[in-house]
Amino acid sequence: MTAKISIIGAGMTGSTTAHWLAEREIADLVLVDIVEGMPQGKALDMQEALPVIGKDVAVVGSNDYAATKGSDIVVITAGIPRKPGMSREDLLTTNANIVSAAVENTLKHSPDALFIVLTNPLDTMTYLAMKVGKLPRERIVGQAGILDSARMRAFVAMETGVSVENIQCYVLGGHGDEMVPLTSRSNIAGISLRDYLPADKLEAIVNRTRKGGGEIVNLLKTGSAYYAPSVAVAQMAEAILKDKHLIVAASAHMQGEYGLKDMFFGVPVQLGRGGVEKILEYKLEADEKAALEKSAAAVKESITVMQSLVKI
Ligand code: APR
Repeated sequence: MTAKISIIGAGMTGSTTAHWLAEREIADLVLVDIVEGMPQGKALDMQEALPVIGKDVAVVGSNDYAATKGSDIVVITAGIPRKPGMSREDLLTTNANIVSAAVENTLKHSPDALFIVLTNPLDTMTYLAMKVGKLPRERIVGQAGILDSARMRAFVAMETGVSVENIQCYVLGGHGDEMVPLTSRSNIAGISLRDYLPADKLEAIVNRTRKGGGEIVNLLKTGSAYYAPSVAVAQMAEAILKDKHLIVAASAHMQGEYGLKDMFFGVPVQLGRGGVEKILEYKLEADEKAALEKSAAAVKESITVMQSLVKI
């Protein structure tokens, strides 16, 4: 392979990202984690699976960032989940330190890499990574919108029985309970969901989408979702490496778009070899505009808290 993707954090989302990427045969892969032996073991297991599906991809696991040298893309999934007795601030501080170290260490070996961040709280961690790495906005994006939109698509398909291929959904805003499923834009084969579904059914889908992550956490009891988040990262990485100019919802640095400045926020972005090539601005319905403002306020608050806890 000529391209190389390094994934920092070889836990559930990190290793599953590697799995989806290996199947796509688009890059050699490196898994890095602090746990000794774990990334090596997972990488070797995956390497041994690839003959069965006929994919020529090198998968390496390491505890040393030197293995990431020359990466085109760095995916950051390293972090810890919230544990009993831990405040959100504790989580924010711990994950901020982990993400900062991951950015600094990977940049030493891959000064030109593009970054895709997955660690939560997503918009805040992506903002931090940008500042720590002094990255231009083209080179860093957070994964959330593809996942949230996919969840909504799945719920619409479950409700209507229509193929997921006919269902397009757009979920913007921060990756939290205030995210904004754009029901006016979301559609089934071109018919707005507002016309296709009764209002109460649509509202139930919107609410379930907003709480989609929590629904999985409650079911799993230990850990959070990983199949859907990781396949979303794989799609973003593929769009970048194949220079597809693919438009997806993702967390990008706002420089005046949607009236927002110097924060990360879920918006439609065009991804290609240069990373974030463009941010698209929708003309929004009044209710959607108000909802986005509320969501932006929540993200801004999280960034402010992070800035008070961590020096950047
Ligand atoms: N450097 C490298 N890896 C680290 C570090 C570090 N400093 N600190 C923790 N890790 C690793 C852990 O050892 C673990 O293997 O990060 C991995 C995280 O994996 P999981 O605990 O399985 O969590 P996961 O479900 O993958 O979620 C990771 O992504 O979706 C988000 O909310 C989620 O913030 C969380 C992140």
